[in-house]
Amino acid sequence: MADQERLEVSEAEVAVHWQEEDYYYPPVEFIAQANMTDAGIYERFSLENFPECFKEYADLLDWYQYWHTTLDTSDAPCWKWFVGGKINACYNCVDRHLPRYRNKAALIFVPEPEEEPHVAITYQELYVRVNEVAALLRDFVGLKTGDRVTIHMPMVPELPIMMLACARLGVIHSVVFAGFSGQACGERIADSGSHILVTMDGYYRNGQLLDHKVKADEALKAAQELGQTVDKVLVWRRHRGQYASQAPMVEGRDYFMDDLLANYGGQRVEPVKMPAEAPLFLMYTSGTTGKPKAAQHSTGGYLSYVAGTSKYVQDIHPEDVYWCMADIGWITGHSYIVYGPLAIAATSVLYEGVPTYPDAGRPWRIAERLNVNIFHTAPTAIRMLRKVGPEEPKKYNYQFKHMTTVGEPIEPEVWKWYYEVVGKGKAVIVDTWWQTETGGFLCSTMPALHPMKPGSTGPGVPGIHPVIYDEEGNEIPAGSGKAGNICIRNPWPGAFQTIWGDRDRYVATYYAKYCKNKESKDWRDWPYLTGDAAMQAADGYYRILGRIDDVINVAGHRLGTKELESACLLVPEVAEASVVPRVDELRGRVPDVYISLKPGYAPSQEIKDAVVKSIEDTIGKIARPKNVYIVPDMPKTRSGKIMRRVLAALSNNQQDVGDVTTLVNPEVVEEIRQMVQGS
Ligand code: PRX
Repeated sequence: MADQERLEVSEAEVAVHWQEEDYYYPPVEFIAQANMTDAGIYERFSLENFPECFKEYADLLDWYQYWHTTLDTSDAPCWKWFVGGKINACYNCVDRHLPRYRNKAALIFVPEPEEEPHVAITYQELYVRVNEVAALLRDFVGLKTGDRVTIHMPMVPELPIMMLACARLGVIHSVVFAGFSGQACGERIADSGSHILVTMDGYYRNGQLLDHKVKADEALKAAQELGQTVDKVLVWRRHRGQYASQAPMVEGRDYFMDDLLANYGGQRVEPVKMPAEAPLFLMYTSGTTGKPKAAQHSTGGYLSYVAGTSKYVQDIHPEDVYWCMADIGWITGHSYIVYGPLAIAATSVLYEGVPTYPDAGRPWRIAERLNVNIFHTAPTAIRMLRKVGPEEPKKYNYQFKHMTTVGEPIEPEVWKWYYEVVGKGKAVIVDTWWQTETGGFLCSTMPALHPMKPGSTGPGVPGIHPVIYDEEGNEIPAGSGKAGNICIRNPWPGAFQTIWGDRDRYVATYYAKYCKNKESKDWRDWPYLTGDAAMQAADGYYRILGRIDDVINVAGHRLGTKELESACLLVPEVAEASVVPRVDELRGRVPDVYISLKPGYAPSQEIKDAVVKSIEDTIGKIARPKNVYIVPDMPKTRSGKIMRRVLAALSNNQQDVGDVTTLVNPEVVEEIRQMVQGS
């Protein structure tokens, strides 16, 4: 840990030398139409008014029954929100909009092949399809409230339909990003205890119809090895009636959804009245150990929080056309493509493919054609589009009023291109900082209330009260120029409830560090540790510097270094592996892999290729390393700890690798340097 910290301190120092940026002000046209123009919201959501203030968000929803306790802290730090309340998430995202918005598009699906027509799904159509799927899940599959279902699906409308059908029944969904391998999916099936896997035959990516069903067989095998049997595999087909996968359908186990649904036409299912604190879904994220961990999100609290932030931070009105270019397989897609926007009757766009297919003008053509006016993406996509098509946005006649950046820090230069070129100087930008665990935004400017500052997220959003602590738990004040561990003082309804099945790990990872009294039932004693380093400028805006633990943030997605290293060690010749983040112009950070070989093996390209393949197979292509270096030995401390900090410095072209006096083998550093940086 100490080694890692030193690396981070140097990053923090770099950040401290960044210049303060000038403010950009929201246009008057934006302010005139904004959902939230009352600065009094911060007073209403002050700590004095906590926790009752969050009724304002919960009241955006329809409840079967109101709660008797807004925040129950009796099982601290597992917070329970709106206890006694009864609600259904699907009802709130679909049924209740029918009287006013029956014929308005809820989802617009944009297939990757440009010649394939867009599909607009109205709220009425969504209602019909979700009900039919819910009937099938209940009557054919036999799913009951509280069961878990793993959904390994790409960006097609059947994915949110599946999620909403689960929510209608109170079934807990666990969506696994389609880019993840069968192995990774299988581990998540086992951890969540799912008996059902939902998948798809194939989908389009970069001009190719990928075979996806093949991963289901690998996933089931991996799950079985971990002791979890899957009874049924439900297979959607990308093109109705045509099967696009090479993988055989297994009799009595695998079923085509389009075939099954023929028996459920016109069926309706009453939404199940769920307790507010019942889990709505699991979302896996990386931690510092190899074992995947699932953030368990609640129904009432989560939905209130994403509805409130979609309305006030995303500024979504029912008349808007909103496009979040994330994948539903990540938390951003759950909160800000599906649940938040649909809870407030938005029209939400779903794009199947990659932003640069077939060329870098694609996103702007989609925006022009659909009249998208709210756009949401990540720095990694912005960097990519800026690199391959810096002038493209100018060619298209669209106009955003609002844009979001999320997932990693954005360089001020990139922010300015986003603002000037993509936003044509007329859109507000919110830089929203949050995490899988937090359900929704933690920090951001409020778009009509605050000026923007490139590279900084902003203050805590209403009801979120951040604080930066040093290692000893002293508060680091705003404007001090010092970085520290950013924490949140108070619970909020969007926060995850626990790590699925591992309360101890939940407490240890997120609350133990700064808890003053482990017996306390008072939320004030339990600051939430985000794991990010940050500093606060004198104006109250936070600047996020990155993770303080061993997680690499690649293209806005967190990958555990431990998971990557374990994958390397699956290659028989590999003795030791160490994975470090390399700064990458496009993807933020990419993994660089260092391996040493078991005695008797000589370095070879085959071994390097095997390492890359193993990482892709166990985690997915997203984790593909930039380089694999076969080193004679790892730089190690006397206690045998690999000094990642030294390798990270070498990967990032630093001349000074810092203090190497604690190394048992300092001479190896020079050898590795030659290999990585040349002489
Ligand atoms: O380090 C922070 C970074 O992404 C981490 C959370 O990743 P994940 O759980 O995958 O959720 C991604 C979608 C919210 C954070 O701990 N991060 C997220 N948003 C920002 C950010 N870093 C800087 N600025 C942001 N706006």
